[in-house]
Amino acid sequence: MYEIYFPQGFLLGTASSAYQIEGASSEGGRGQSIWDVFSHSQGKIEDGTNGDIACDHYHRWREDVELMKSLGVNAYRFSISWSRVLPKGRGEVNEEGLRFYSNLVDALLESKITPFVTLYHFDLPQKLQEEGGGWLRREIVEDFVEFAEVVSTELGDRVKYWATLNEPWEFTWQGYVTGEDAPGLRLGVDAALRATHNAYLAHGAAVQVLRDNVLSGKIGIVIHLNFVEPASQSLNDIAAARRWEMCQNRWYLDPIFKGEYPEEMIKLYGDNAPSVQPNDMILIQEPIDFLGFNNYRRSVIASGSDLPPVDMKRINPPGEYTEMGWEVYPKGLYKILKWIHENYSVSNIYVTENGAAFPDAISPDGRIHDERRVAYLIEHIEQALKAAEEGIPLRGYFVWSTLDNFEWAYGYTKRFGVIYVDYQTQRRIIKDSGFFLAEISKHLK
Ligand code: FCB
Repeated sequence: MYEIYFPQGFLLGTASSAYQIEGASSEGGRGQSIWDVFSHSQGKIEDGTNGDIACDHYHRWREDVELMKSLGVNAYRFSISWSRVLPKGRGEVNEEGLRFYSNLVDALLESKITPFVTLYHFDLPQKLQEEGGGWLRREIVEDFVEFAEVVSTELGDRVKYWATLNEPWEFTWQGYVTGEDAPGLRLGVDAALRATHNAYLAHGAAVQVLRDNVLSGKIGIVIHLNFVEPASQSLNDIAAARRWEMCQNRWYLDPIFKGEYPEEMIKLYGDNAPSVQPNDMILIQEPIDFLGFNNYRRSVIASGSDLPPVDMKRINPPGEYTEMGWEVYPKGLYKILKWIHENYSVSNIYVTENGAAFPDAISPDGRIHDERRVAYLIEHIEQALKAAEEGIPLRGYFVWSTLDNFEWAYGYTKRFGVIYVDYQTQRRIIKDSGFFLAEISKHLK
């Protein structure tokens, strides 16, 4: 038996997102999202696939809840498809969509699994993209408030954990600068920063709505955070690492916890910096109850010409890498937890995603012996719990992901699940990593 000590009340769960697992993209009154349009555009997805069917979770959610129950986990993080609830982004509510989430929540609670909802996980209603450019439009704040209002009115009596946004850095930079993700635009840094600012206003306004609608709610946001290290002790590399830390980490934490964007970065961005109106920062700083962060690797940074004007280059030190090409560096999780604790006053922290893609295959015995993922999880959970033992207020840990699923621009080529999905038959098989979770979850208190 693997020895492990979880703090009292610790949440141990798996995580997913709507577009990556639900499928049923044109069923049940769902409207189109930017990911439907993007994934159906030629050449955007590595294997030419899309999320039309995905894991068919929309039809198989009962089985999926049963599977989670057998993993012994006490929490499940999932997101709400905005266009399933409000097919045009605003206005007419699709009751059938709301019912889907309501039933899911009931089944989770019956199984003693705490639902942990993310409102926005990359899948903006297409209609809102077409009207004025999605997150580039400041008025999107009102739309997001409406979405938060509709969902929390329905689920707020049963769901206590709410995250407003997932990884704002990803959906703004990859959606509006590099074009790797939906909506696939290559507009420039100013667009990413404007989209971020609007998303943050929407976050603050949604926190207020959730506060009103959810009795004793725990409300927060999910940010992607990596521990940043310079590739060498040269002054140029140190400066580049510092810029990257400000661009990816601090730009997303400072507004919420300090009410400002990092000054140095504003100077560097110059005319590209977003226009901040009076009172914006007050709204963005609306108090939250927790910080959720997603972490997969560390960032070793040298000076370079990537992502001007940040001017950096990612270095891959020798070591073990996952199928995503991400370094396996468990200490990075401990280091980033410490970094958060030392730099920001956060009283509740959750690792809302951590996990690894490996090329899993079904063995002749019919099982999936994903020992590298098991090792990854053991080492990362150990590092996370070490931080908790040292007094860092870590309250939970979620493995990405429950099921193998649609990994955005990589399509179905990357498997992150602790449950294997045979996409031909939709058959699910618990991997050894899932059995590992079942083993350690016996120690939850
Ligand atoms: C994160 C996303 C999640 C998944 C993992 C691998 O950036 O939040 O949806 O794609 O990466």
